[in-house]
Amino acid sequence: MSLYQMLSPYLFKLDAEKAHNLAESFIKRVLPLPLVQDYVAGKNCVVDKALSVEVAGMRFYNPVGLAAGFDKNATMIKGLSALGFGFLEIGTITQAPQEGNPKPRLFRHTQEQSLQNAMGFNNQGSLVISKRLKAFYPYAIPLGVNIGKNKIIAQSDSLKNYENVLLDCLEVGDYFTFNLSSPNTPNLRDLQNVSFVQELFAMARTHTQKPLFLKISPDMDKDEMLKVVEMSIKSGASGIIATNTTVDYTLVQNPQDSGGISGAALKQKSKEILRILSESFFGKIALISVGGIDNAQEAYERIKLGASLVQVYSGFVFQGPSLCKNINEGLLQCLRADGFTHLYEALGQDIKTKPKTRKKSNADKTQDKQDSKIVIKTKPTQTRKKKLDSSKDTESTQKAPSPKKTESKKTESKPKKTRAKKADSTNATKSKASRTKKTESKLDSTQNLVDKDLPTSQIEPSQAQQDSKANLPKE
Ligand SMILES: Cc1cc2nc3c(=O)[nH]c(=O)nc-3n(C[C@H](O)[C@H](O)[C@H](O)COP(=O)(O)O)c2cc1C
Repeated sequence: MSLYQMLSPYLFKLDAEKAHNLAESFIKRVLPLPLVQDYVAGKNCVVDKALSVEVAGMRFYNPVGLAAGFDKNATMIKGLSALGFGFLEIGTITQAPQEGNPKPRLFRHTQEQSLQNAMGFNNQGSLVISKRLKAFYPYAIPLGVNIGKNKIIAQSDSLKNYENVLLDCLEVGDYFTFNLSSPNTPNLRDLQNVSFVQELFAMARTHTQKPLFLKISPDMDKDEMLKVVEMSIKSGASGIIATNTTVDYTLVQNPQDSGGISGAALKQKSKEILRILSESFFGKIALISVGGIDNAQEAYERIKLGASLVQVYSGFVFQGPSLCKNINEGLLQCLRADGFTHLYEALGQDIKTKPKTRKKSNADKTQDKQDSKIVIKTKPTQTRKKKLDSSKDTESTQKAPSPKKTESKKTESKPKKTRAKKADSTNATKSKASRTKKTESKLDSTQNLVDKDLPTSQIEPSQAQQDSKANLPKE
């Protein structure tokens, strides 16, 4: 039994939000202490090439991320990265700071391993949070900024409100998620319509070529959902995060009368949405699955159903800090059991009706072969170099986790120099010759794709490491 499992009966006696605040203090204050961070990271960061994926132009050393809402104000990113997450999504951030809904607003359904929250985007606002993030940028792992709308903003002014947060955070996010799906801001979910989504992504694409995601609700009408997702893709979305919490109160025995339900009770719904999305969009867009993922088997199922990445929230609360490690180690076992050597081989295996894709030309196939080699840049670009240089001062605070090694077959290919100036956006596709497919070459900067974002064991010793003093995670 883990220490967390021993402590959780006491922790769970506290009011749920107080327990969260206690956990936040610990993650914020204790985990980043140098020796503690090394020790915790050594225990929790699972590094294995089989888990390393490239999604929407970003490199993830493992596919398990922290879902939005846990670190609303980006106060815990150092401590959280030591817990083995492959990426973090902070927020939801709104332009103006807001208190959120009256307390109590977070409840446990312990029997059902589920939570119900009516938080209402309590956060310190985009200026304060982006300033905080600046001190840590660039990060050791990809960091997403989840963007929402202030409660007091009229529906008709929503677009501007989203735009303002995006602009405040443009420099400090590796990707951005538009959250139109929280049930806790009045009428927010009404924005999940074709015309708003079109305006939203079109607006965002005038400001950035970084990856943009739409986070959707599990409670939408399925046809409408497909139309909205289709439009988001047409207008520039890089992927979909499915799903937010549900307002289907039949899923738990004693529901509160407001708020969204997450955790095990959401599992089937979230999985069903993923299946529907995969049948229409797999291979065309990145799919990130979230909702009820609390073990490796579940994460593996989502990957086989077409999710390139997964996120956890409630599972982290109930299972504790070893969840990432357990999922990643379990994923390696699942892969081995199925005779796979890489996650890409499992990706989308269980999708019954795959969307039609264009028949590959010979040129595509040659390109695929090249892309199947994981691309790691050898030299930082000038912009990148400047950032790295200017970040020397904060080097100690950015110390990246010491990943735990499981296997380290040196099968990684050498980086291609021609790629150094491009940040390619790829969605993984299943094919014998290649597991990755280049879809875009658009990112406006390369800072999200550089080798420092990877644990060192995945990287051939590179110029970047020697030249730029990039702040690499230690082996
Ligand atoms: C207390 C709490 C707060 C949340 N806050 C946010 C939020 O601010 N923005 C957001 O996009 N999702 C938020 N979520 C939803 C999660 O990101 C996730 O989509 C949902 O909980 C399903 O995942 P899970 O079953 O692993 O918890 C929140 C969830 C919980 C439990």
